[in-house]
Amino acid sequence: SSQYTWAGRFSEPMSDLVKRYTASVDFDQRMWRQDIRGSLAHAKMLAKQGIIAAQDLADIERGMQQVWEEIESGRFEWSLDLEDVHLNIEKRLTALVGDAGKRLHTGRSRNDQVATDIRLWLRDTIDDILALIRQFQENLLVLAEQEAATPMPGSTHLQVAQPVTFGHHLLAYFEMTQRDKERFADCRKRVSRLPLGAAALAGTTYPIDREFVARELGFDGVCENSLDAVSDRDFGIEFCAAAALLMTHFSRLSEELVLWMNPRFGFVRIADRFCTGSSIMPQKKNPDVPELARGKTGRVNGSLIALLTLMKGQPLAYNKDNQEDKEPLFDTADTVLDTLRIFADMMGGIEARPENMRNALTQGFATATDLADYLVKKGLPFRDAHEAVGLAVKRAEDLGVDLPELPLAELQQFSPLVGDDVFAVLTVEGSLAARDHLGGTAPTQVRAAIARARSRL
Ligand code: ARG
Repeated sequence: SSQYTWAGRFSEPMSDLVKRYTASVDFDQRMWRQDIRGSLAHAKMLAKQGIIAAQDLADIERGMQQVWEEIESGRFEWSLDLEDVHLNIEKRLTALVGDAGKRLHTGRSRNDQVATDIRLWLRDTIDDILALIRQFQENLLVLAEQEAATPMPGSTHLQVAQPVTFGHHLLAYFEMTQRDKERFADCRKRVSRLPLGAAALAGTTYPIDREFVARELGFDGVCENSLDAVSDRDFGIEFCAAAALLMTHFSRLSEELVLWMNPRFGFVRIADRFCTGSSIMPQKKNPDVPELARGKTGRVNGSLIALLTLMKGQPLAYNKDNQEDKEPLFDTADTVLDTLRIFADMMGGIEARPENMRNALTQGFATATDLADYLVKKGLPFRDAHEAVGLAVKRAEDLGVDLPELPLAELQQFSPLVGDDVFAVLTVEGSLAARDHLGGTAPTQVRAAIARARSRL
């Protein structure tokens, strides 16, 4: 018989091209730890149920120990002829321990095996992602605390809108990444279900104990339906969707960093270790890290679409299409993990430049809304106040000054309600301090929000 595990009913060998086309070992070998863990739990259950002998289990455990060491040390010889990670490991086990190795696959199929491996792998990955988001958030909070009272122009339409503090602005990203954590943690619940026992699609004739295997592998439960267990990858799609949203948040932060470190803004300096130079222009310091994060968001979005498209036309149950789930998942995980590592570190490499932020704040009539609110509190309907302030802004623009620089008499031309207490509300500090409520930008509120954020980590 041929070298192929499944070649019994075949009468001619596979062509080299087909072999290369159908093999996944080049990329699925990274699930080797999960594959061995899954096999050991399965074997333990088979022995407990009397489906294999205790001696078989002992042989399998001993053999797998050696396989583990061979792979870990780089001595393992991966073979394209053996198609995927599962057959490579099983074949080596059998070479080491003989018949016990051949008994391992009793009551199991690669279909439930691979679904188990991916779920174990994703669960580990989600745990790493959650820890790194937390790390990023901790470092973000340190910066936000330093800058809790630092005024900067808040924008809408990228135009100066109202003063905010830099700390408040940064806390927006705490909220976004907090929701990202919730999404990954929620996705994890559905990842953490055991497919093993579904076998190829219909279940198996052996007296298996699926709950035992689930407990052994730390799953929260078993997949209830065998057809569903081997065929759906919705948990992977959810993972990619959560990843796409996370990357979208980091892409927005990246875009802001690119703008802020541009000399025309000059709001921040980013430590040299996150920047690169130009091969031709000696003066350049480029924000390559945020630019790349913005760019890599595209490939994560692409992976999400790839998996959705992979799934949409598949009849139940398992189809080989599903082998295409791995590269998008791995690529997404690698991209997200590296992005998080680098951004967690970069938070400590961002230095605010308050003088430039303040300078920008004096150029866009940032306290115009405060003047309108002032008039409203003196009894003017808001729409009338809005119009009066609009005229005052126009006048200030003609004179080339900011609102607080207009003389009192000049301001009184637009409304007789203006008194000399107006200047307190026209300052940046007055504007900030006045937004003193839950979720507002007053420095006292920002500090309280940081304290709450720490307890929500
Ligand atoms: N390498 C395959 C995958 O990734 C494993 C399952 C193969 N099953 C099969 N019947 N061909 O999906």
